[in-house]
Amino acid sequence: MKIETVLAHAGLCTDQKTGAISTPIYQTATFRHPAVGVSTGYDYSRTINPTRETLEKTIAELEKGDRGFAFASGMAAITALCMLFSSGDHLIVSDDLYGGTYRLFEKIFKQLGIEATYADTSSAACVREAIIPGRTRALFIETPTNPLMKITDLAEIMSLAASKRLLSIVDNTFMTPCLQRPLEFGADIVVHSGTKYLGGHNDVLAGAVVARSRELSDRIGFIQNSTGGVLGPQDSWLVLRGLKTLALRMERQQQNARRIAEWLAQNSLVKQVYYPGLTDHPGHGIHKKQSGGFGAMLSFRVSDAARAEKIVNRCKLITFAESLGGVESLITYPVKQTHGDIPAEIREKIGITDDLLRLSVGIEHVEDLIEDLDQAMAAQEQWT
Ligand SMILES: Cc1ncc(COP(=O)(O)O)c(C=O)c1O
Repeated sequence: MKIETVLAHAGLCTDQKTGAISTPIYQTATFRHPAVGVSTGYDYSRTINPTRETLEKTIAELEKGDRGFAFASGMAAITALCMLFSSGDHLIVSDDLYGGTYRLFEKIFKQLGIEATYADTSSAACVREAIIPGRTRALFIETPTNPLMKITDLAEIMSLAASKRLLSIVDNTFMTPCLQRPLEFGADIVVHSGTKYLGGHNDVLAGAVVARSRELSDRIGFIQNSTGGVLGPQDSWLVLRGLKTLALRMERQQQNARRIAEWLAQNSLVKQVYYPGLTDHPGHGIHKKQSGGFGAMLSFRVSDAARAEKIVNRCKLITFAESLGGVESLITYPVKQTHGDIPAEIREKIGITDDLLRLSVGIEHVEDLIEDLDQAMAAQEQWT
């Protein structure tokens, strides 16, 4: 079955008794036991809840994995994955990635003895160099990265990880299974902030994990039940509803993003545009090979930092807010928002500087979006 069909039928209920089309929200913490030692299969909602179960099965089907898990947020999902490791373990992590993930590794798991090295994971040589024999256990990557849209060759890096017996984890938030399925390239685990494209309406926080093998599923299932950062039934239902239109939203959003990237690339106030769909974007060819589209995230660098703040303040239609992936376009100032917790010297080294803006392009009419950016950037008198 094609992914568009799986998505449209997400949460389609098969309840014979009522014929309800939509999966009910099982707003219950616990379930009655028919007798001592007898279970309906549902005992307690932290372990399993029918609404969450429907979402988890759908996500696993979309990512083509063994089993899916829904968490209370993307960070709860990544936290659960970090529980796979023990004190003394070392991970290689993309050097350009969501600031909250960096914060989790540096401020929480480092104290517990789990260390990370931040490497340019778009280069196999850099990854190889970062491996500490006997200690490195895993590779955690984003492709494209947040916010500089760096591309990793999934097939190459996954085979390197496998040859070194490293667990490979891919944060697939930006692409969604609609456009990119890392498990098909050999990744062991895919993780998502479901808050973004999966939910798609800026109205729910969620996280998702899909594991490739039964062995990993069992370990993650144990961690999920033991630590309890699960997604509630109402929020599971909201993500299921969002998924139904994911393919359509993605199609429109990436069409808009491409037009905007091309428009920005022509603008004299813009120094650089980061969008994998531009043919001169580093890794454009690799991304094209491994993904079904270029997505709807882009970043751009303006000619001086003072302009960045002014653009953000002058946008009217495009909302100045953190987050991404929803139907409404958002503009973000990574240095002050999503990546604010990364030390300034590291941000500087990577290129997350105060002249950089990030756009999450929504489903609005693209001409309205361009008009808004144009008016926000056009007031030349503001620039002096
Ligand atoms: C790529 C990526 N991964 C993970 C997260 C964390 O997700 P959440 O905000 O749902 O906890 C984010 C949040 O912005 C993100 O952009």
